[in-house]
Amino acid sequence: MKINARHSPADTPALNRKPRIGIIGAGGIAGSHAQGFKAAAGLCSVVAVADPDAGRTDAIHELFGPAVRIVKDYRELLADAAIDAVDILLPHDLHMPVTVDAARAGKHVLVEKVMARTVAECDTMIAACDAAGVSLTVCHDRRYDGAWVAIKDIIDSGALGEVFFYKLSHNQNVAVPPGHWIRSRERLGGGAVISCLTHQIDALRWYGGEPVAVTSMSKTIPDRMEGETVGVIIARMASGALAELSINWCTMTGNSPQGLHYELIQVCGTKGEVFWKSRAYKGDPVMLRLYDGASPAIVERYGRDALADFAPVPAPACPGHEGCIREWVKMLRGEPAGVRTSGRACRGTVEVAEAAYRSETAGRTISLPLGDIAV
Ligand SMILES: NC(=O)c1ccc[n+]([C@@H]2O[C@H](COP(=O)([O-])OP(=O)(O)OC[C@H]3O[C@@H](n4cnc5c(N)ncnc54)[C@H](O)[C@@H]3O)[C@@H](O)[C@H]2O)c1
Repeated sequence: MKINARHSPADTPALNRKPRIGIIGAGGIAGSHAQGFKAAAGLCSVVAVADPDAGRTDAIHELFGPAVRIVKDYRELLADAAIDAVDILLPHDLHMPVTVDAARAGKHVLVEKVMARTVAECDTMIAACDAAGVSLTVCHDRRYDGAWVAIKDIIDSGALGEVFFYKLSHNQNVAVPPGHWIRSRERLGGGAVISCLTHQIDALRWYGGEPVAVTSMSKTIPDRMEGETVGVIIARMASGALAELSINWCTMTGNSPQGLHYELIQVCGTKGEVFWKSRAYKGDPVMLRLYDGASPAIVERYGRDALADFAPVPAPACPGHEGCIREWVKMLRGEPAGVRTSGRACRGTVEVAEAAYRSETAGRTISLPLGDIAV
């Protein structure tokens, strides 16, 4: 199955059968992917899972069905000519080498966020998939999640006027036992910024275009992990807007129904503003406020209530992983698909995280794009 690596499925002959998928790595995030593949069961089949942890066997059968083949070595899965594409759910140090192996074996690749630990690794992955004529997609799930999509639609409608401020933040309590890969700066690619604030960086780029300058500070709590546990980025966008992004991996507020928030998005413009927050991983409504002078078309679209105070805006009830997997599978089938997260689209997210680390080390603002990295 050949498809355009730049995600233009229009020229792709549709398969006359369901794409056969292999999963590589079946730990914590496999549950969200299993849910996505279950929802797309009419479009594709998950036929094999590779994971060296024998203790995961029962959980894998529960997630992907009793018939799924389980192998310990992912290379066995790549050698199977019946498998068209792989979904890589591995620790970050393995994203690049396993993507390269998969591309060389002729498999299309979906890789969990974060794409890789560095821009250089991202570029190696893009080059390997281009050379093999296979597609490379990153599962940055927020770009497919109902609330995040509703905010994108509001921004793109012009309802906010000229956007001048973005605030995105993420609260979580990540406490893993000694020896876990998340504790290793080398395996994670840094700390909470590269691992998880990349959700917010990716959404910022999707909402508002590219940042041109970033300043960052972070805090390490050595009992928790080698990399930073807390990170703050301020950015100036090419549009002139400012952005403030933060991650805290040592707080209980994110998973408490009474807590402050898990994730927060606030976007302010000259004609209106929108915010959304989730608690205990459950989303509240997206709330929109329009200022006096909003155009009749915008008032008609979002309702008069938003002129009086913040008012809820309906958002599609779509979990991000489910949306990403559905669009990826449609692309594999050669059908019109809304894949928003190609390797090329997501490389810049890693570039912003890398600039944040350079800012911390150098103690100054870093300009983007990073001049010493070939595009
Ligand atoms: N989108 C999200 O909200 C979200 C949330 C959590 C994790 N993630 C991402 O998911 C990915 C995996 O994270 P996780 O939390 O599932 O990690 P995890 O440690 O729970 O699972 C990793 C799995 O990979 C397996 N594995 C290790 N080496 C392997 C190899 N060579 N071949 C096959 N399997 C191997 C392990 O046995 C384990 O089952 C990371 O990229 C992480 O950032 C995304």
